[in-house]
Amino acid sequence: MRSERAAAFAPGRVNLIGEHTDYNQGLALPFAIAEGVTVQARATNGEIVSAHAVDLDEDDEFPLREPPGVEGWRAFVRGAVAECGRAGFEVPAADLRIEGDVPRGSGLSSSAALEVALCLALLGLVGETCNDRIALARLCARVENDWVGAQTGMLDQLASLFGAAEGALLIDFRTLAIVPVPLRLGGWRFAVVDSGERHANASSGYNERRAECERARTLLGIDSLRDASAAQVAGLPQPLRARAEHVLGENARVGEAVAALRAEDLPAVGTLLDASHASLRDLYEVSTPPVERAVTRLRERGAAGARLMGGGFGGSVLGLFAPGVPTPNGAREVRPGPGAHLLPDAID
Ligand code: GLA
Repeated sequence: MRSERAAAFAPGRVNLIGEHTDYNQGLALPFAIAEGVTVQARATNGEIVSAHAVDLDEDDEFPLREPPGVEGWRAFVRGAVAECGRAGFEVPAADLRIEGDVPRGSGLSSSAALEVALCLALLGLVGETCNDRIALARLCARVENDWVGAQTGMLDQLASLFGAAEGALLIDFRTLAIVPVPLRLGGWRFAVVDSGERHANASSGYNERRAECERARTLLGIDSLRDASAAQVAGLPQPLRARAEHVLGENARVGEAVAALRAEDLPAVGTLLDASHASLRDLYEVSTPPVERAVTRLRERGAAGARLMGGGFGGSVLGLFAPGVPTPNGAREVRPGPGAHLLPDAID
């Protein structure tokens, strides 16, 4: 049933481990966080969609059908409207109000939170309950790929849509099977610090890394780098060899991290975070001096492990802290929170 109003919340995410594996049909272990984006939508008459970004105090207005492309946050809004329409939903003209508390460009996936909240709210207006969350994640990824220009995989969208307060999600990007992994931390805490360097997947080296993986895969004649053997990888030219080595090592570390969490062996998780960071820095080459400084600072303050998180080239750094070790000033403790959902009260 169509509604005059709908509102939706979608969270950002932390990725515990499994970086740059999603678009290589690999494994990752994210959890949704409490912070996110809320979109309130009100159906209007006519053919114009208007949007207000509360935190930026900026507006946009565009035609409901065939909105022209644009840059920045407006690309997400136009893309969400257009992709919902292309997927066959009769989204009406609407006023949209967007508000959030995930810091933008900080590697906590403010982008996925925005596109997922937008799509859920728009579909809420047409009375669509979105039971097929995998299809919705694909739709949201198209917003990011085709409208924002970042050739990202589906890590962030799936984490935002499937998040659960109980723990993390083991995602297999070949089958898109998602297995809950409870986080029994026994007083250990995860915390993030901002490296201070903003990052944007569309303009960083992210798309180049993805293209390098695609070249390596094509050279090896396999379906995905997940299938590469160590011997095949050793025969690749640099830097493709290093990129593929990272992907293989990182997939293995995800499996080890899940086993360590199930055994409540948090020191082992810390060691795996460090190994993931070394690989992202040395083999995948997505770290930067500000990110290195943030990682070093976390370790100096007693983190049992620390690593860059998300696409890299800036953003946030994740650290794991043992019971009794205080998190440093400016660090934000992160815990799993619920996944994206419609809100009962769409306000005026
Ligand atoms: C960004 C992308 C994800 C994923 C990570 C790296 O967050 O949006 O799809 O590729 O980088 O793991």
